[in-house]
Amino acid sequence: MDNERILVLDFGSQYTHLLARRVRQLGAYSEILAPTASREELENCRGIILSGGPASVYAENAPKFNPEIFKLGKPILGLCYGLQLIAKEMGGKVKRGSVKEYGTAKVKIAKKGKLLNNVKDNSVAWMSHGDKVEKIPPQFENLASTNDCEFAAIANPEKKIFGLQFHPEVTHTEEGMKVLGNFLDICGCEKKWGMKNYLEEKVEEIRKEVGGRKVFLLVSGGVDSTIVLALLHRALGGEKIYAMHVDNGFMRKDESRTVKEELDKLGMNELNVFDASKQFLGAVKGVTDPEDKRKIIGNLFVEIADMQIKELSLNPDEWILGQGTIYPDTIETGGTKNADLIKTHHNRVKAIQELIDKGKIIEPLKLLYKDEVRELGQELGLPLNLVNRHPFPGPGLAIRALCSDGGEENLDELGKKANKLLKEWGFNFRAVPLPVKAVGVQGDERSYRNVLALEGKMNCKELEECSTKLTNSLGEINRVVFALAPEKIESVKLLKKHLTKDRLDLLREADAISMEELSNAGLDEEVWQFPTVIIPVEVNGDGESIVLRPVLSREAMTARFAVLPREVIAKMVERITSLEGVGAVFYDVTHKPPATIEWE
Ligand code: XMP
Repeated sequence: MDNERILVLDFGSQYTHLLARRVRQLGAYSEILAPTASREELENCRGIILSGGPASVYAENAPKFNPEIFKLGKPILGLCYGLQLIAKEMGGKVKRGSVKEYGTAKVKIAKKGKLLNNVKDNSVAWMSHGDKVEKIPPQFENLASTNDCEFAAIANPEKKIFGLQFHPEVTHTEEGMKVLGNFLDICGCEKKWGMKNYLEEKVEEIRKEVGGRKVFLLVSGGVDSTIVLALLHRALGGEKIYAMHVDNGFMRKDESRTVKEELDKLGMNELNVFDASKQFLGAVKGVTDPEDKRKIIGNLFVEIADMQIKELSLNPDEWILGQGTIYPDTIETGGTKNADLIKTHHNRVKAIQELIDKGKIIEPLKLLYKDEVRELGQELGLPLNLVNRHPFPGPGLAIRALCSDGGEENLDELGKKANKLLKEWGFNFRAVPLPVKAVGVQGDERSYRNVLALEGKMNCKELEECSTKLTNSLGEINRVVFALAPEKIESVKLLKKHLTKDRLDLLREADAISMEELSNAGLDEEVWQFPTVIIPVEVNGDGESIVLRPVLSREAMTARFAVLPREVIAKMVERITSLEGVGAVFYDVTHKPPATIEWE
């Protein structure tokens, strides 16, 4: 396996991990290392990819790297910053760009060579750079250019050193996978690596990491923790695992009971269900800030786990904690060098971080994206209905029930501005700002802004265009919703609402209706995730509001709002509005970014 290894050296690009993943998708094992890795670490591989990065190769803060990279005789592919580093180190010249260039460009091929073998001419590639190569090093040849960039692909075939100014790892680059595949061929990779190997390796790794200890695992019943349980079960056997499902009171309707039943059916009958709903509800009583809620819930999880360990007289030296953390959880909590904090995921709160630092946590999925986790689940023989379940956040419905102390906010100006824009753009919608704030992600940063409701005819194409224009133009908002019922909004009022059992029960009912109607329509696989959210907003003097948030996604890093058939939406609205306490139903028509999937 090691012989097939491709090393990705991380110069700070936000795509480094995606790049490593693309290599794995192409069938070669890949690992990410710091550019300062030692010669020994660098030697055991088939080839090296130098990632992009935000710095300039001439900058004082340019990442340090081990210059021996270029003396190992291994094939090298430099991307963007990586290309510029090759140019600078091997005798070429890089020009400091005054204007940054983002977006798509057409790649005109001058010479294919092995790197661009079978690559279509004039294909679209994604560029994102300020500096560019002005002169290529001696013994290098130019393979391709774009309108704005003379040296878009360069090669020294003899030394097997290559560089690309564009990013082959992003989906917008049409021929990106072909180019990366060609590099793997140049490296002599057999491209036979897959989830089967990953599973075998992980099983070995888990056995080594856990050693003589046992694992205490919290199982939410969601895809990730269930797959971790199955994986630990495979590696260690049931007797070395104590699996606990904490019913935090924020679960979906009947969820805790069905989780236990499903796992029992699969022969994983070590799950112990612990009802902690009263403790959790007590801990978040009166709390309204989303980040506070998340932190309280995350920390209480750890406290309860600790308490259980003590109650069971489990010696902390003999036990470690297992978690189903996946990669996006780490990125969005600012867990990588360059990422901003978007949301504190419950499994990255301080108490957990301390355990990680002490080596008392095992997280076998932490480098995988959701779709890779699902693939691993299949490899483990788990049934498809379980592997393909919608993701469900650890803090559960607690982050789908927005809270408020009430009060008034004058949003008239925002309403006026929005309606003026709608008129200018020729849309037949009327905008009504809602007095609640939701979380979003804009320009890779967290935002917490108001929500704008639109009323009119439900035309999803127009709503998509309109919502994008509105969130781009109005700095006060990060989300747009469409008013399904009532169709005319006469008044809106912010209510004083907190996390109470009654309110969560109401949300559970509304959520169960959305899920049931989605499943009746046969759409639960097509829709990636479907939060149903309760917001403390009274419309036309009648009850609270529910928001439907079905989304399409692959990795949760970006998402589109899903367009459900009219009759399915109508059925949901009819049933949800008949619930006591619900006065309005909205449909979230915002993509991620600028909004996030969850509202908090
Ligand atoms: P956002 O709302 O950031 O969510 O677009 C991306 C994905 O992550 C899930 N999510 C969480 N999962 N603990 C989790 O286990 C959390 O604290 C958490 N917050 C968001 C969300 O449901 C979506 O699938």
